[in-house]
Amino acid sequence: MKRVDDFRLRFGKQELVPIVIGGMGVDISTADLALEAARLGGIGHISDAMLPTVSDRRYDTNYVSQKLKKYKANVASSDKRDVHFNLAELEEATRQHVSRAMEAKRGEGMIFINCMEKLTMNAPRETLRVRLTAALDAGIDGITLAAGLHLGSFALIEDHPRFRDAKLGIIVSSARALGMFLRKNARLDRAPDYVVVEGPLAGGHLGFGLDWAKYDLAAIVADVMAMLKAEHLDIPVIAAGGIFTGSDAAAFLEHGAAAVQVATRFTVTRECGLPDKVKQEYFKASETDIEVNSLSPTGYPMRMLKASPGIGSGIRPNCEAYGYLLDANGRCAYIDAYNLEVERHPGAKKISVQDKTCLCTHMRNFDIWTCGHYTYRLKDTSCRAEDGSYQLLSAEHVFRDYQFSTGGQIALPA
Ligand SMILES: Cc1cc2nc3c(=O)[nH]c(=O)nc-3n(C[C@H](O)[C@H](O)[C@H](O)COP(=O)(O)O)c2cc1C
Repeated sequence: MKRVDDFRLRFGKQELVPIVIGGMGVDISTADLALEAARLGGIGHISDAMLPTVSDRRYDTNYVSQKLKKYKANVASSDKRDVHFNLAELEEATRQHVSRAMEAKRGEGMIFINCMEKLTMNAPRETLRVRLTAALDAGIDGITLAAGLHLGSFALIEDHPRFRDAKLGIIVSSARALGMFLRKNARLDRAPDYVVVEGPLAGGHLGFGLDWAKYDLAAIVADVMAMLKAEHLDIPVIAAGGIFTGSDAAAFLEHGAAAVQVATRFTVTRECGLPDKVKQEYFKASETDIEVNSLSPTGYPMRMLKASPGIGSGIRPNCEAYGYLLDANGRCAYIDAYNLEVERHPGAKKISVQDKTCLCTHMRNFDIWTCGHYTYRLKDTSCRAEDGSYQLLSAEHVFRDYQFSTGGQIALPA
């Protein structure tokens, strides 16, 4: 019986353990978590979601208060068109986060950054260009393009000196999306170095509709591999979403995937950025505690725990401080949903917004508990203390369990 360690992910001459820890914003996949994956010979992701506020929390900067101060007069207005990011600060925050992680890197593995197109930041092209460029400047090993079709993203960095040497990949949920990306970028003569195929059981935003349950990761991976073969493209395919044990992972590798990308099992590790209290919620969850809903203003369905405190909260939109989801015209679906509720309840001190959530604020505060489908199995991966709490795991323990386990087994912590 094969195990993950029988396989290697190859990038040219470099060989890696074929385990990728997926990006989890906002700072859920911390640099500490990514560093462990790299130390153990795999790939870890940091996330570039909301880095100015992450930087304030971690490195004592004050980007958020400065931005809020600048746009304070706009807070009560529903028109957010004039609320912009300072691109120099965005660059600084990205460089700082990436370079600190890269300087701390040990071992043979790599650190990539997850970059979501849906973070449109009221100037989609300009802000994305700054984020991608700053990450390359700061020495990131690779960039995983996520949450969007990214048809124009390669072109934003085509003149960067590292455009052809850094590893660049994209997350897709269908062969069709990958086909669009490849066609659009054909003129650049620079294929992606890897493709992550993310199925419907993943955490975070889903590249499917609310009919996600009809889709199957193995079938999509096979589709994508067939398409690449037909196009004579030799691009490693990385399977993601619902791969819970080493044996699940080995099965994908045996069927031709070059690696697996996993995340949920790492949400209950000490290195994960979620507060410990929230990690316990993940451990305790049962299958019926998890839902896929349309609360995200991005328009993509998102999977989360139903008990997330951010659900139903009617806080005033916080775009002057954050504003990461403002589209090219300064709009966000949460602002519209909020204004409608305000109109419906004139004079009310507190309102509740049920159909959308202020994702920037609630993700920043760890109040939307996004999670993978198999979060309800996390309780089987640890031990329970007498007070009912579960023992947090080390990232090394989970990584090694993926790497070496067989027969569907999950190693419990010592
Ligand atoms: C808590 C959490 C947050 C996530 N956030 C992101 C994200 O910010 N960007 C992204 O591309 N994928 C995100 N994902 C998806 C993961 O990177 C990964 O591809 C997927 O969850 C793998 O499936 P698994 O969780 O079943 O192992 C997130 C997943 C989880 C569990």
